[in-house]
Amino acid sequence: MNEFEDIKALEEEAKKLIESAKESSELDAIDTKFLGRKGELTLQLRKIGSLEPEKRKDFGAAVNAAKNMLAGQLADFKRRFAEKEKELRLKKETLDVTVPGRFYVPGTPHVLMETFDDIKKIFIGLGYEIFDSPEVEEYKYNFAALNYPEEHPAIDEQMSFYIDKEHLLRTHTTAYQHRVMLGRKPPMKVCTTGKCYRVDAVDATHGHTFHQVDCFAIDKGITFSDLKGTLLHFAKSMLGQHVETRFRPDFFPFVEPGAEVAVTCTICGGKGCNVCKGSGWLELGGAGMIHPNILRGAGIDPEVYSGFAFGFGIERIHMLLHNVNDLRMFMDNDLRFLRQR
Ligand code: DAH
Repeated sequence: MNEFEDIKALEEEAKKLIESAKESSELDAIDTKFLGRKGELTLQLRKIGSLEPEKRKDFGAAVNAAKNMLAGQLADFKRRFAEKEKELRLKKETLDVTVPGRFYVPGTPHVLMETFDDIKKIFIGLGYEIFDSPEVEEYKYNFAALNYPEEHPAIDEQMSFYIDKEHLLRTHTTAYQHRVMLGRKPPMKVCTTGKCYRVDAVDATHGHTFHQVDCFAIDKGITFSDLKGTLLHFAKSMLGQHVETRFRPDFFPFVEPGAEVAVTCTICGGKGCNVCKGSGWLELGGAGMIHPNILRGAGIDPEVYSGFAFGFGIERIHMLLHNVNDLRMFMDNDLRFLRQR
Protein backbone atom coordinates (compact mmCIF):
# COMPACT_ATOMS: atom_id res chain seq x y z
CA MET A 1 0.00 0.00 0.00
CA ASN A 2 1.42 3.38 -0.83
CA GLU A 3 0.97 6.46 1.33
CA PHE A 4 -2.00 7.72 -0.76
CA GLU A 5 -3.79 4.48 -0.28
CA ASP A 6 -3.20 4.76 3.50
CA ILE A 7 -5.07 8.04 3.47
CA LYS A 8 -7.93 6.54 1.44
CA ALA A 9 -8.11 3.59 3.83
CA LEU A 10 -8.27 5.86 6.88
CA GLU A 11 -10.90 8.00 5.16
CA GLU A 12 -13.01 4.93 4.39
CA GLU A 13 -12.67 3.62 7.93
CA ALA A 14 -13.70 6.99 9.35
CA LYS A 15 -16.68 7.26 6.99
CA LYS A 16 -17.94 3.82 7.99
CA LEU A 17 -17.66 4.71 11.64
CA ILE A 18 -19.49 8.00 11.09
CA GLU A 19 -22.31 6.28 9.26
CA SER A 20 -22.77 3.64 11.93
CA ALA A 21 -22.61 6.14 14.83
CA LYS A 22 -25.73 6.34 16.99
CA GLU A 23 -25.18 9.44 19.08
CA SER A 24 -23.13 12.65 19.20
CA SER A 25 -20.69 11.34 21.76
CA GLU A 26 -19.59 8.66 19.23
CA LEU A 27 -19.05 11.38 16.61
CA ASP A 28 -16.89 13.30 19.07
CA ALA A 29 -14.78 10.19 19.59
CA ILE A 30 -14.36 9.72 15.81
CA ASP A 31 -13.39 13.36 15.49
CA THR A 32 -10.63 12.93 18.05
CA LYS A 33 -9.53 9.58 16.65
CA PHE A 34 -8.93 10.88 13.10
CA LEU A 35 -8.80 14.68 13.14
CA GLY A 36 -7.55 15.53 16.63
CA ARG A 37 -4.05 16.85 17.27
CA LYS A 38 -2.83 13.29 17.60
CA GLY A 39 -5.51 11.88 15.28
CA GLU A 40 -4.62 9.21 12.76
CA LEU A 41 -5.09 11.48 9.73
CA THR A 42 -3.32 14.40 11.36
CA LEU A 43 -0.34 12.16 12.13
CA GLN A 44 -0.10 11.22 8.42
CA LEU A 45 1.29 14.69 7.80
CA ARG A 46 4.42 13.68 9.71
CA LYS A 47 5.29 11.31 6.91
CA ILE A 48 5.89 14.23 4.56
CA GLY A 49 9.55 14.59 5.55
CA SER A 50 10.31 11.03 4.53
CA LEU A 51 8.67 11.30 1.07
CA GLU A 52 10.36 12.12 -2.19
CA PRO A 53 10.16 15.91 -2.56
CA GLU A 54 7.95 15.82 -5.71
CA LYS A 55 5.30 13.79 -3.89
CA ARG A 56 5.15 16.01 -0.82
CA LYS A 57 2.80 18.68 -2.17
CA ASP A 58 0.25 16.18 -3.47
CA PHE A 59 0.43 14.13 -0.29
CA GLY A 60 -0.13 17.16 1.91
CA ALA A 61 -3.07 18.22 -0.25
CA ALA A 62 -4.53 14.70 -0.13
CA VAL A 63 -4.35 14.57 3.70
CA ASN A 64 -5.96 17.98 4.00
CA ALA A 65 -8.66 17.10 1.50
CA ALA A 66 -9.45 13.93 3.45
CA LYS A 67 -9.47 15.89 6.70
CA ASN A 68 -11.79 18.54 5.26
CA MET A 69 -14.09 15.96 3.79
CA LEU A 70 -14.39 14.12 7.11
CA ALA A 71 -14.73 17.35 9.07
CA GLY A 72 -17.62 18.35 6.82
CA GLN A 73 -19.32 14.99 7.18
CA LEU A 74 -18.87 15.00 10.95
CA ALA A 75 -20.29 18.52 11.21
CA ASP A 76 -23.28 17.48 9.16
CA PHE A 77 -23.94 14.38 11.26
CA LYS A 78 -23.40 16.28 14.51
CA ARG A 79 -25.99 18.85 13.53
CA ARG A 80 -28.55 16.17 12.68
CA PHE A 81 -27.81 14.23 15.85
CA ALA A 82 -28.10 17.35 17.96
CA GLU A 83 -31.53 18.05 16.54
CA LYS A 84 -32.69 14.49 17.06
CA GLU A 85 -31.36 14.38 20.58
CA LYS A 86 -32.97 17.69 21.47
CA GLU A 87 -36.30 16.38 20.24
CA LEU A 88 -35.95 13.24 22.33
CA ARG A 89 -34.97 15.24 25.38
CA LEU A 90 -37.93 17.57 24.99
CA LYS A 91 -40.26 14.63 24.65
CA LYS A 92 -38.81 13.02 27.76
CA GLU A 93 -38.96 16.18 29.81
CA THR A 94 -42.44 17.17 28.76
CA LEU A 95 -44.61 18.09 31.71
CA ASP A 96 -48.27 17.25 31.38
CA VAL A 97 -49.84 20.15 33.22
CA THR A 98 -53.28 18.58 32.89
CA VAL A 99 -52.46 15.56 35.09
CA PRO A 100 -54.32 16.02 38.41
CA GLY A 101 -51.95 16.79 41.29
CA ARG A 102 -51.65 14.84 44.53
CA PHE A 103 -53.99 16.27 47.12
CA TYR A 104 -52.51 16.60 50.58
CA VAL A 105 -54.90 17.19 53.45
CA PRO A 106 -53.05 19.30 55.99
CA GLY A 107 -53.64 18.45 59.64
CA THR A 108 -55.62 20.89 61.75
CA PRO A 109 -55.77 21.46 65.49
CA HIS A 110 -58.19 19.14 67.28
CA VAL A 111 -61.72 20.53 67.78
CA LEU A 112 -61.11 20.83 71.52
CA MET A 113 -58.25 23.26 70.91
CA GLU A 114 -60.71 26.00 70.09
CA THR A 115 -62.16 25.67 73.58
CA PHE A 116 -58.65 25.52 75.08
CA ASP A 117 -57.82 28.76 73.31
CA ASP A 118 -61.03 30.50 74.40
CA ILE A 119 -60.44 29.49 78.02
CA LYS A 120 -56.83 30.67 77.92
CA LYS A 121 -57.83 33.98 76.34
CA ILE A 122 -60.21 34.73 79.21
CA PHE A 123 -57.55 34.06 81.86
CA ILE A 124 -54.83 35.89 79.97
CA GLY A 125 -57.28 38.80 79.86
CA LEU A 126 -57.43 38.65 83.67
CA GLY A 127 -53.63 38.77 83.87
CA TYR A 128 -52.96 35.05 84.37
CA GLU A 129 -49.75 33.43 83.13
CA ILE A 130 -50.13 30.15 81.26
CA PHE A 131 -47.87 27.24 82.27
CA ASP A 132 -47.23 23.77 80.90
CA SER A 133 -46.37 20.82 83.10
CA PRO A 134 -45.60 17.14 82.48
CA GLU A 135 -48.25 14.52 81.80
CA VAL A 136 -46.01 11.87 83.34
CA GLU A 137 -45.95 13.32 86.83
CA GLU A 138 -44.25 12.53 90.10
CA TYR A 139 -46.45 11.09 92.85
CA LYS A 140 -45.08 13.93 94.97
CA TYR A 141 -46.63 16.67 92.83
CA ASN A 142 -49.81 14.83 91.90
CA PHE A 143 -50.70 13.85 95.50
CA ALA A 144 -48.21 14.38 98.33
CA ALA A 145 -47.53 18.10 97.80
CA LEU A 146 -51.28 18.65 97.42
CA ASN A 147 -51.89 17.59 101.01
CA TYR A 148 -53.13 14.08 100.27
CA PRO A 149 -52.17 11.99 103.29
CA GLU A 150 -50.61 8.63 102.47
CA GLU A 151 -53.28 5.92 101.87
CA HIS A 152 -56.02 8.56 101.80
CA PRO A 153 -59.25 7.34 100.14
CA ALA A 154 -59.22 10.47 97.96
CA ILE A 155 -56.22 8.92 96.18
CA ASP A 156 -58.33 5.86 95.34
CA GLU A 157 -60.99 8.18 93.96
CA GLN A 158 -58.50 9.26 91.32
CA MET A 159 -57.55 5.74 90.19
CA SER A 160 -54.25 6.21 88.47
CA PHE A 161 -52.08 4.78 85.74
CA TYR A 162 -48.71 4.25 87.41
CA ILE A 163 -45.46 4.22 85.43
CA ASP A 164 -43.43 3.06 88.45
CA LYS A 165 -43.63 3.61 92.22
CA GLU A 166 -42.92 7.33 91.96
CA HIS A 167 -44.38 8.24 88.57
CA LEU A 168 -47.88 8.21 87.18
CA LEU A 169 -49.93 9.82 84.43
CA ARG A 170 -51.23 12.91 86.16
CA THR A 171 -54.80 12.53 87.37
CA HIS A 172 -55.46 16.27 87.44
CA THR A 173 -53.76 19.42 86.18
CA THR A 174 -53.69 20.61 89.81
CA ALA A 175 -50.37 18.70 89.91
CA TYR A 176 -48.62 21.74 88.40
CA GLN A 177 -49.46 23.97 91.39
CA HIS A 178 -46.59 22.97 93.65
CA ARG A 179 -44.11 23.06 90.74
CA VAL A 180 -45.06 26.66 90.00
CA MET A 181 -45.23 27.80 93.63
CA LEU A 182 -41.75 26.47 94.36
CA GLY A 183 -40.15 28.50 91.63
CA ARG A 184 -41.75 31.89 92.31
CA LYS A 185 -42.83 34.36 94.90
CA PRO A 186 -46.32 35.88 95.32
CA PRO A 187 -48.15 37.63 93.89
CA MET A 188 -48.89 35.01 91.27
CA LYS A 189 -51.82 34.32 88.99
CA VAL A 190 -51.27 31.23 86.94
CA CYS A 191 -53.18 28.79 84.82
CA THR A 192 -52.55 25.51 83.03
CA THR A 193 -54.52 23.36 80.62
CA GLY A 194 -53.87 19.81 79.48
CA LYS A 195 -54.52 16.09 79.44
CA CYS A 196 -55.28 14.05 82.53
CA TYR A 197 -55.68 10.31 82.95
CA ARG A 198 -57.65 8.11 85.30
CA VAL A 199 -58.52 4.43 85.26
CA ASP A 200 -62.14 4.51 84.21
CA ALA A 201 -64.48 2.49 82.01
CA VAL A 202 -65.27 4.41 78.83
CA ASP A 203 -68.83 5.49 78.10
CA ALA A 204 -70.67 8.61 76.90
CA THR A 205 -69.79 10.58 80.04
CA HIS A 206 -66.57 8.91 81.25
CA GLY A 207 -63.13 8.45 79.73
CA HIS A 208 -59.66 7.41 80.79
CA THR A 209 -58.22 10.51 79.13
CA PHE A 210 -59.70 13.98 79.50
CA HIS A 211 -58.66 17.60 79.75
CA GLN A 212 -58.68 20.11 82.54
CA VAL A 213 -57.93 23.74 83.16
CA ASP A 214 -56.51 24.58 86.59
CA CYS A 215 -55.81 28.09 87.89
CA PHE A 216 -54.73 29.68 91.12
CA ALA A 217 -53.94 33.11 92.49
CA ILE A 218 -51.88 34.00 95.57
CA ASP A 219 -51.43 37.46 97.03
CA LYS A 220 -51.98 39.38 100.22
CA GLY A 221 -55.64 39.69 101.14
CA ILE A 222 -57.18 37.29 98.61
CA THR A 223 -60.62 36.09 99.73
CA PHE A 224 -63.37 33.73 98.68
CA SER A 225 -65.13 36.71 97.08
CA ASP A 226 -62.25 37.06 94.65
CA LEU A 227 -62.71 33.42 93.71
CA LYS A 228 -66.46 33.89 93.20
CA GLY A 229 -65.95 37.03 91.13
CA THR A 230 -63.32 35.39 88.96
CA LEU A 231 -65.45 32.34 88.26
CA LEU A 232 -68.57 34.37 87.56
CA HIS A 233 -66.59 36.40 85.04
CA PHE A 234 -65.23 33.21 83.50
CA ALA A 235 -68.63 31.50 83.30
CA LYS A 236 -70.28 34.52 81.69
CA SER A 237 -67.45 35.08 79.20
CA MET A 238 -67.34 31.45 78.24
CA LEU A 239 -70.96 30.36 78.32
CA GLY A 240 -73.01 33.55 78.00
CA GLN A 241 -73.85 36.65 80.02
CA HIS A 242 -77.07 35.12 81.40
CA VAL A 243 -75.16 32.34 83.21
CA GLU A 244 -74.99 32.33 87.03
CA THR A 245 -72.71 30.33 89.29
CA ARG A 246 -73.41 28.23 92.37
CA PHE A 247 -70.93 27.19 95.07
CA ARG A 248 -71.59 24.28 97.39
CA PRO A 249 -69.28 22.86 100.06
CA ASP A 250 -67.05 20.03 98.80
CA PHE A 251 -63.84 18.38 99.88
CA PHE A 252 -60.47 18.50 98.11
CA PRO A 253 -57.35 18.03 100.27
CA PHE A 254 -55.63 21.08 98.76
CA VAL A 255 -58.30 23.68 99.52
CA GLU A 256 -60.09 24.83 102.67
CA PRO A 257 -62.88 25.64 102.40
CA GLY A 258 -63.49 23.65 99.24
CA ALA A 259 -66.41 23.99 96.87
CA GLU A 260 -68.13 22.34 94.00
CA VAL A 261 -68.81 24.88 91.25
CA ALA A 262 -71.90 24.71 89.06
CA VAL A 263 -73.39 27.03 86.43
CA THR A 264 -77.00 27.48 85.37
CA CYS A 265 -77.80 24.90 82.72
CA THR A 266 -76.94 26.36 79.33
CA ILE A 267 -79.46 24.10 77.62
CA CYS A 268 -82.65 24.97 79.57
CA GLY A 269 -81.51 28.24 81.18
CA GLY A 270 -82.05 26.80 84.67
CA LYS A 271 -85.59 25.48 84.27
CA GLY A 272 -84.52 21.85 84.34
CA CYS A 273 -84.00 19.47 81.42
CA ASN A 274 -82.50 16.04 80.77
CA VAL A 275 -78.95 17.40 80.39
CA CYS A 276 -79.02 18.94 83.91
CA LYS A 277 -81.21 16.05 85.08
CA GLY A 278 -83.97 18.47 86.03
CA SER A 279 -81.83 20.42 88.51
CA GLY A 280 -81.19 23.50 86.35
CA TRP A 281 -77.48 23.35 87.30
CA LEU A 282 -74.43 21.86 85.62
CA GLU A 283 -71.32 20.96 87.58
CA LEU A 284 -68.10 22.36 86.14
CA GLY A 285 -65.50 21.32 88.73
CA GLY A 286 -63.92 22.19 92.04
CA ALA A 287 -62.57 25.29 93.73
CA GLY A 288 -61.58 26.70 97.09
CA MET A 289 -59.11 28.67 99.18
CA ILE A 290 -55.61 27.20 98.94
CA HIS A 291 -54.93 25.11 102.06
CA PRO A 292 -52.34 26.68 104.42
CA ASN A 293 -50.33 23.42 104.24
CA ILE A 294 -49.89 23.88 100.51
CA LEU A 295 -48.63 27.44 100.93
CA ARG A 296 -46.33 26.44 103.78
CA GLY A 297 -44.98 23.50 101.75
CA ALA A 298 -43.95 25.94 99.06
CA GLY A 299 -42.28 28.34 101.48
CA ILE A 300 -45.13 30.86 101.39
CA ASP A 301 -46.27 32.20 104.77
CA PRO A 302 -50.05 31.56 105.12
CA GLU A 303 -50.22 34.28 107.77
CA VAL A 304 -49.22 36.83 105.14
CA TYR A 305 -50.57 35.40 101.93
CA SER A 306 -53.74 33.66 100.85
CA GLY A 307 -54.95 32.29 97.57
CA PHE A 308 -57.73 30.57 95.70
CA ALA A 309 -57.68 27.75 93.17
CA PHE A 310 -60.10 26.03 90.86
CA GLY A 311 -60.11 23.31 88.24
CA PHE A 312 -62.62 22.36 85.52
CA GLY A 313 -63.08 19.69 82.90
CA ILE A 314 -62.68 21.14 79.42
CA GLU A 315 -64.73 18.53 77.54
CA ARG A 316 -67.76 19.44 79.63
CA ILE A 317 -67.53 23.07 78.59
CA HIS A 318 -67.00 22.16 74.93
CA MET A 319 -69.94 19.75 74.97
CA LEU A 320 -72.25 22.45 76.33
CA LEU A 321 -71.09 25.01 73.79
CA HIS A 322 -71.29 22.74 70.75
CA ASN A 323 -74.02 20.28 71.67
CA VAL A 324 -71.72 17.27 71.72
CA ASN A 325 -73.42 14.50 73.68
CA ASP A 326 -70.79 11.76 73.79
CA LEU A 327 -67.35 12.13 75.34
CA ARG A 328 -65.96 9.40 73.11
CA MET A 329 -66.21 11.72 70.11
CA PHE A 330 -63.10 13.55 71.27
CA MET A 331 -60.95 10.42 71.21
CA ASP A 332 -62.45 8.39 68.35
CA ASN A 333 -60.72 10.31 65.55
CA ASP A 334 -63.79 10.22 63.34
CA LEU A 335 -62.88 12.68 60.59
CA ARG A 336 -66.49 13.73 60.09
CA PHE A 337 -66.43 15.04 63.65
CA LEU A 338 -62.91 16.44 63.57
CA ARG A 339 -63.33 18.32 60.28
CA GLN A 340 -66.09 20.45 61.74
CA ARG A 341 -63.55 22.86 63.10
N1 DAH B 1 -58.22 18.65 90.79
C1 DAH B 1 -59.62 18.50 91.10
C2 DAH B 1 -60.17 17.31 90.33
O1 DAH B 1 -59.62 16.93 89.34
C3 DAH B 1 -60.39 19.74 90.75
C4 DAH B 1 -60.02 20.91 91.58
C5 DAH B 1 -60.71 21.15 92.79
C6 DAH B 1 -58.99 21.75 91.22
C7 DAH B 1 -60.38 22.22 93.58
C8 DAH B 1 -58.64 22.85 92.01
C9 DAH B 1 -59.36 23.05 93.19
O2 DAH B 1 -57.64 23.68 91.67
O3 DAH B 1 -59.01 24.13 93.96
O4 DAH B 1 -61.16 16.78 90.73
